[in-house]
Amino acid sequence: MTVYVPRDSAARSVGADQVAERIARETRVVRNGSRGMLWLEPLVEVETPAGRVAYGPVTPDDVEDLLASGLLDGAPHRLCLGPTEEIAWLRDQTRVTFARVGVIDPVSPPDYTAHGGLAGLRRALSLTPEQVVAEVTDSGLRGRGGAGFPAGIKWKTVLGAASEPKFVCCNADEGDSGTFADRMLMEGDPFTLIEGMTIAAWAVGASEGYIYVRSEYPDAVATLRAAIDAAYARGWLGKRVLDHDFAFDLFVRVGGGAYICGEETSMLESLEGKRGMVRAKPPIPALEGLFGKPTVVNNVLTLGSVPMILADGAEAFAELGVGHSRGTQVFQLGGNIARGGIVETAFGITLGELVEGYGGGTRSGRPVRAVQVGGPLGAYLPTSRFDLPMDYEEFAAAGAMVGHGGVVVFDDTVDMAGQARFAMEFCAAESCGKCTPCRIGAVRGVEVIDRIVAGENRGANLKLLNDLCHLMTEGSLCAMGGLTPMPVRSALTHFPGDFGATTEERP
Ligand code: NAI
Ligand code: SF4
Repeated sequence: MTVYVPRDSAARSVGADQVAERIARETRVVRNGSRGMLWLEPLVEVETPAGRVAYGPVTPDDVEDLLASGLLDGAPHRLCLGPTEEIAWLRDQTRVTFARVGVIDPVSPPDYTAHGGLAGLRRALSLTPEQVVAEVTDSGLRGRGGAGFPAGIKWKTVLGAASEPKFVCCNADEGDSGTFADRMLMEGDPFTLIEGMTIAAWAVGASEGYIYVRSEYPDAVATLRAAIDAAYARGWLGKRVLDHDFAFDLFVRVGGGAYICGEETSMLESLEGKRGMVRAKPPIPALEGLFGKPTVVNNVLTLGSVPMILADGAEAFAELGVGHSRGTQVFQLGGNIARGGIVETAFGITLGELVEGYGGGTRSGRPVRAVQVGGPLGAYLPTSRFDLPMDYEEFAAAGAMVGHGGVVVFDDTVDMAGQARFAMEFCAAESCGKCTPCRIGAVRGVEVIDRIVAGENRGANLKLLNDLCHLMTEGSLCAMGGLTPMPVRSALTHFPGDFGATTEERP
């Protein structure tokens, strides 16, 4: 009899370790990743002849009662949720990147290969690098870190660059508030990321890879390191990857602890041992990246999608989604929400279906008022925009962005002027200081919002705020200063009353 108790840090934060320890005295326990239904953590699963049966949330205090009631026989109990795969929230998703997360033991190579692991890498190694790049291009995969740049085009640039050596760097500095999918993939299925990076290395001719993980993710760092050791031991990494004439070494580096280290050039500086400061582009990292050499920089979810694309073919991935947003996105529901967690589904689902359908509205039970999509630099949207499909272009047309797929919900008690002020405050705190529109603009932004809210010369100050937003958008060196106006402007547009402004006074 096997019982699964997640080792994911979200589950651990609510007592999964104690639950696992107690159950392990009775039977075999596997520490899996989280299924992503965070309101049910710790989610305990019992293997039965008919498949896994879920119980949750199981607190340490529930364990004795569960064991006494026949948990290990899959007996009915007030915490029993039935067969895991039939829980509607999970059943209705299209799990591609997260197909194995919560299912397997994250650090067990046999479990990984038994669930389709390495099929993508094996196929990639049977193709030429050009063919692999073409496959990724044809899949329509776009960068999942936020910018949505086509991954195949980026790889093609690196493949075509003459300089050597080349690098693959995974950006795992998941700094956006309300995002946690990178962490959950690294903790729940690290071999998928390792495989994706190895495929990328083969495709572009890279010999070394680095995973830059934010320092706030110690569990992800430990899990990745254990998985990398296991991969070396089995010849999945090293001098002859899967017995092919191809060498690839992979390293984990812990981040510098600043939001700006998630900006790709700043991350490269930090990887080189310097302070995380933004570099001007061009040159783009694809041509002059780590140590000035051609470098693929992709987010965890981008690289994590690659094994499935190679295993199942570009067409299977491209069939999912809408418009130029192909495949699935791993949405992360957070904030004031009844059912928060991971929803992996094809692009095209509406914002309302995510928040009201999967999320079940607010946790407080009060009406939803605003939703911020795409991290702290994303737009605030009102419920009247719940019809918006999750699609890069549709969001851009609405003055918003899908970003890294984080969806943070606020109820009707939220003060949107306060949220706009927070965006400027956040930028002032996290700015690397290299360019003036961001370094000085953010500080002035806080001041001018304060004056607007205080009712001081409102018309002139609203105009000033609009000018400042324009300057920051157009004049900042990177997305930090360039996108900070997005939450500010969207708050002003959709919630002008919170700034004490009449519709006519809006910038
Ligand atoms: P960008 O649009 O400048 O670049 C996107 C990517 O494409 C970069 O890797 C760039 O080097 C590459 N690229 C551009 N032209 C290329 C070419 N011709 N050949 C090859 N590669 C090329 O956007 P940036 O500044 O990298 O990212 C901004 C985004 O980051 C924002 O939209 C935001 O959503 C997101 N973000 C994500 C965070 C997170 O925690 N995941 C945190 C903060 C921002
Ligand atoms: Fe640095 Fe801000 Fe300028 Fe980006 S926009 S380079 S974070 S000062």
